Amino acid sequence: MSNIKSIMDYDTVRLDEEKNELVIIDQTKLPCEIEILHLKTAKEIWDAIYLLQVRGAPAIGVAAAYGLYILAKNIGASNYDDFYKEFSRIKDYLNSSRPTAVNLSWALERMNAVCVEHKSEPIKKILEALLQEAKRIQEEDIATCRKIGEYALTLVKPGDGLLTHCNAGQLATSKFGTATAPMYLGKEKGYNFHIFADETRPLLQGARLTAFELYSSGLDVTLICDNMSASVMKNGWVNAVFTGCDRVAANGDAANKIGTSVVAICANYYHIPFYICAPTSSIDMSIAAGSDIKIEQRPAEEVTEMWYKKRMAPEGIKVFNPAFDVTDNKLIAGIITEYGIARPPYSKSLKDIFAEKARNAAVR
Ligand code: MRU
Repeated sequence: MSNIKSIMDYDTVRLDEEKNELVIIDQTKLPCEIEILHLKTAKEIWDAIYLLQVRGAPAIGVAAAYGLYILAKNIGASNYDDFYKEFSRIKDYLNSSRPTAVNLSWALERMNAVCVEHKSEPIKKILEALLQEAKRIQEEDIATCRKIGEYALTLVKPGDGLLTHCNAGQLATSKFGTATAPMYLGKEKGYNFHIFADETRPLLQGARLTAFELYSSGLDVTLICDNMSASVMKNGWVNAVFTGCDRVAANGDAANKIGTSVVAICANYYHIPFYICAPTSSIDMSIAAGSDIKIEQRPAEEVTEMWYKKRMAPEGIKVFNPAFDVTDNKLIAGIITEYGIARPPYSKSLKDIFAEKARNAAVR
């Protein structure tokens, strides 16, 4: 792995405008191989999201927006009604690839709104507007992650021990990550954080992706198995926990990678603040509580055989493999957004965050 370009030099997701392709790093191959995929068809893009070749809520949103643009360009209809019928079909198809991360439907709905807004214009103009919207979604993602990092950095001090779960890093976004943003920004300021990355069973996003990108960036990162987080907390090595999220409900309940709620429960027991890093694109104010969040169920093989040379469970064994869990709002010390840090009670503070977002939009 020593002679490769750093993983941080690659774009997690990008559009090749000339070839009309979605270009991603195949995250299922990391850290052993850096393979770049060039996706053109709806099936290829759907599969890439479903198979987690591109993953992490914000990156899924950006990939879906560019994907919808690429596919819209190929529609070849001569009037708006025919164009929009096919556009809607493709949008719904992409939206069915994964259910939990709200960024997927959020990004597709933004693209849809642009399509409808420009309905009286020639299709060429609609496509241009869609391209600009997809680019805006990606640019906003970068700015949002940076802002989250700046707010998160106010919650910690140089030399602190930080723990994170899954990958809410650059590989899950367009740059900086959400939960990793304070780590990268802290490094620029010489903060010397000691970071613990949970390996994150069953798909090992912590080991394969978070440990990889932080280590490649020269941060002090220690990889631990998921069942070790209580030990490092008990040892006094963790001052704060930062994780990402896939969907936050209006009451602050937060869905994130399976195992996150165990980390939050342990952090609470040891009086360590547990923070959710949440772009507003991951907050779903239409959902009252976490119990309303649809949790993706994944194939049993991810638990029984994936990553092993030989199957590691009895043939025929029943397997429960939810990809996400919901952390109760009462375990969350703060929800860090690009518009500030929401504190309990979240049913009020999240509304204030969206009011601030609306004020900002009105000023621009
Ligand atoms: O199944 P994944 O790998 O897409 O799950 C990713 C996570 O749970 C991340 O923590 C979340 O999407 C936030 S990414 C900034």
